[in-house]
Amino acid sequence: MEPRTADMRTQVLRDNNDNNESFIASSRLKEAADALLREEVVAFPTETVYGLGALWRSPKALREIFRIKGRPQDNPLILHVCDAEMAWSLASDVPEAAVILAKAFWPGPLTIILPADRRVPQEVTAGLTTVGLRCPAHPIAKRLIELTGEPLAAPSANISGRPSPTTLEDALEDLDGKVPFIIEGGASTVGLESTIVDLSRSGEAHLLRPGGITVQALDQAFELAGLKLRVQEPVLRYGMFSLSDGEVPRAPGMKYRHYAPRALVHLFSELDVEEAAHEVREWLNARACSQPEDDSPVGLFIRDDVWGCLLNQYGESIHTGHLQVVLFSADDQGRSAAHGLFAAFRQFDREGCAMIGVSSLCEKGYGGAFMNRVIRAADNSSQIQANE
Ligand code: TXA
Ligand code: MG
Repeated sequence: MEPRTADMRTQVLRDNNDNNESFIASSRLKEAADALLREEVVAFPTETVYGLGALWRSPKALREIFRIKGRPQDNPLILHVCDAEMAWSLASDVPEAAVILAKAFWPGPLTIILPADRRVPQEVTAGLTTVGLRCPAHPIAKRLIELTGEPLAAPSANISGRPSPTTLEDALEDLDGKVPFIIEGGASTVGLESTIVDLSRSGEAHLLRPGGITVQALDQAFELAGLKLRVQEPVLRYGMFSLSDGEVPRAPGMKYRHYAPRALVHLFSELDVEEAAHEVREWLNARACSQPEDDSPVGLFIRDDVWGCLLNQYGESIHTGHLQVVLFSADDQGRSAAHGLFAAFRQFDREGCAMIGVSSLCEKGYGGAFMNRVIRAADNSSQIQANE
């Protein structure tokens, strides 16, 4: 485990009765809101991943976020709001498309990029003329913003480059001793970050990050509202965050390495069940042969049907002794894969895995967002700077 600079005591605000409603009604969340108003940073749950929050207008607290995460200065923060009215107050222009998407998907896992109001500090925008806005659905996040009475800037609550935390335990792993408060809110239901759509250029909508809302759903919302607009996706979907030399990324965070566990990640390519089972077996065998003396465990985050087929077909010949296996459903459009990915990465790291094999999914439903994260985690190419 990495050394910690334990310069403060981290207090966990817990929901002792497992009842969000009474927790939200209690005065405990007020303690966290007061800390935010005192310009301290507070980690809190959202439905996508845990966030590391700061008062939107406090340069001191915003700089603290960058320091704690080790986040590059040119990577802007998104602002979290409790309703659309608060969101629009932070933008200098609110196109009809933004109102349509907010009505359809807020509160929820969608971040909208708009031209920024002059009041949004440069610690948030990192010098861009635009700002990212999200209204989270998690009741604790919503209440925290209401109690603070102001927007909260919040990136994912991981040390830069690590998988985003989706549980209290994972958030503590990165932030214990570094923040005064972490609020518990159970496991994040989505499990990976919000979809980011850029509406800052009039008459255009661009996907910057696939996430908890699919592009098909966004297009459908425009259509239902009678707006002739389609979300533009980068031509290279899988490689969308890889940049060619000199290219300026539209979402600055794209250029940094993300989501990576300590273990090396290998992405299996086969989609057909039997072919996929064969591919996993070959990979396991090749590893067992090439490094017979290495007894560190291997992590598998694979489809349940592939695992079933693997056991059926190859049974005893698989070296299950050193395997840590986490399965996800093959037939829920990627929902459980997206939900479990970051949690599995962190679990495998805790178990000391040297390598992790992950099943591919087709891009239906959450599959696109899932594949985007896995490809980034498996990508060791020099195009992605490894310093986030
Ligand atoms: O689900 C989420 O969005 C989570 C939870 C905590 O809300 N937050 C999150 O924040 O993922 P972060 O900072 O880890 O990722 C936000 C991404 C970064 O890649 C950043 O570069 C991009 O949004 N971004 C922020 N402001 C932007 C802007 N004005 N224009 C383009 N991209 C922006
Ligand atoms: Mg992040």
